[in-house]
Amino acid sequence: MLGGGLVAGSLILVGGEPGIGKSTLLLQVSGIIARDVGPVLYISGEESIEQVKMRAERLDITGERLYLLATTELDAIGEAVQRLKPSLVIVDSIQTLSASYLTAAPGSISQVRECTVQLMHLAKGLHIPLFIIGHVTKEGTVAGPKALEHIVDAVLYLEGERYHSYRLLRGVKNRFGATHEVGVFEMHGEGLGEVLNPSAVFLSDRATGATGSAVVVSMDGTRPLLVEVQALATPSNFGNPRCTTNGIDHNRLLMLLAVLTKRVGLAVGNHDVYANVVGGFSLEEPSVDLGVAAAIASSYRERLIAPDMALIGEIGLSGELRAVNRLALRVREAAKLGFKRCIVPGAGGGAKVRSELAEAGLPDDFKVITASTLAVALEIVLQH
Ligand SMILES: Nc1ncnc2c1ncn2[C@@H]1O[C@H](COP(=O)(O)OP(=O)(O)OP(=O)(O)O)[C@@H](O)[C@H]1O
Ligand SMILES: [Mg+2]
Repeated sequence: MLGGGLVAGSLILVGGEPGIGKSTLLLQVSGIIARDVGPVLYISGEESIEQVKMRAERLDITGERLYLLATTELDAIGEAVQRLKPSLVIVDSIQTLSASYLTAAPGSISQVRECTVQLMHLAKGLHIPLFIIGHVTKEGTVAGPKALEHIVDAVLYLEGERYHSYRLLRGVKNRFGATHEVGVFEMHGEGLGEVLNPSAVFLSDRATGATGSAVVVSMDGTRPLLVEVQALATPSNFGNPRCTTNGIDHNRLLMLLAVLTKRVGLAVGNHDVYANVVGGFSLEEPSVDLGVAAAIASSYRERLIAPDMALIGEIGLSGELRAVNRLALRVREAAKLGFKRCIVPGAGGGAKVRSELAEAGLPDDFKVITASTLAVALEIVLQH
């Protein structure tokens, strides 16, 4: 996640919504560093030492070389770090800290900023890596991690639907390594475990006999990820069609509906449309357009999308399919997961795409089908 390791003296912000698992993640990291590297100081301003200890026991972390300190005072943290000189410091959370010389309340923008700057000096001065946890709320708090992104060296966000067990750790800034790395974890009773083959997990519960389901290949950082997109289009009863999305940009969906109406001739405008990304993912890449549009068309026309087909392509306003980056990587991942066919953008017969994919080492029974427009792609996709 951090592009090869933890840099001494770096200050790393881990943000996330309440209850998502920030304390769990960093307590697990603490346990590993304490076991393999050296003493770790975990400072909790939110929970008592007893509570942190209970969590550590549940996560099966032994206490050796792991020091807990329950405080909200910046001075006390400075003293403890100076005294212990640990290999790693965790501050949980930045919103609970206060510097005694400021009158503002903990969690206010001035306290949060000042405490972060002081922790930065501490980390840099002693060459100790330091993680700070910060809460983000859906509404976006004023003194939230966003206000700190420019101060710290690296920013990681832990996300995922609260009620699904998957969590994504996403790098959004890193002064010492690549960003846009994504780690996929699953939350168990014993803590967060790494998910080694996320695509397989996200597709494992697919109901293959249902309309409105398509599989798209999105890039998560440098890794292709196959995810199921579901759509439901039902005639609108009240003359005021609704459009609800989960994991897909709302405006992007409206655009796709307009293209389906105008360029493909589907009267989706008088339907309520729901679109959902399975597994609590949010798909931001335009390469998933084709899959989303096909899922909607599949539900609208009550035609199945073959379960062994993956869909890749950005859709333009003229209804054309536009090329996407890293095509070979995406197609190879689909083949690896047992898909047999893949629809990809290919203008003019797709000769260029075919030569691009020639070296991808695809299995012989894997078929790449090129389409130049959404209408053509839907002809191929919705045959059943
Ligand atoms: N016994 C358990 N079994 C499985 N999962 C658990 C268990 N106890 C807690 N969890 C998971 O851990 C999550 C809470 O983790 P954690 O306290 O690390 O989150 P946090 O982001 O630090 O929250 P906060 O904002 O309250 O500090 C819960 O939402 C739940 O998913
Ligand atoms: Mg916590």
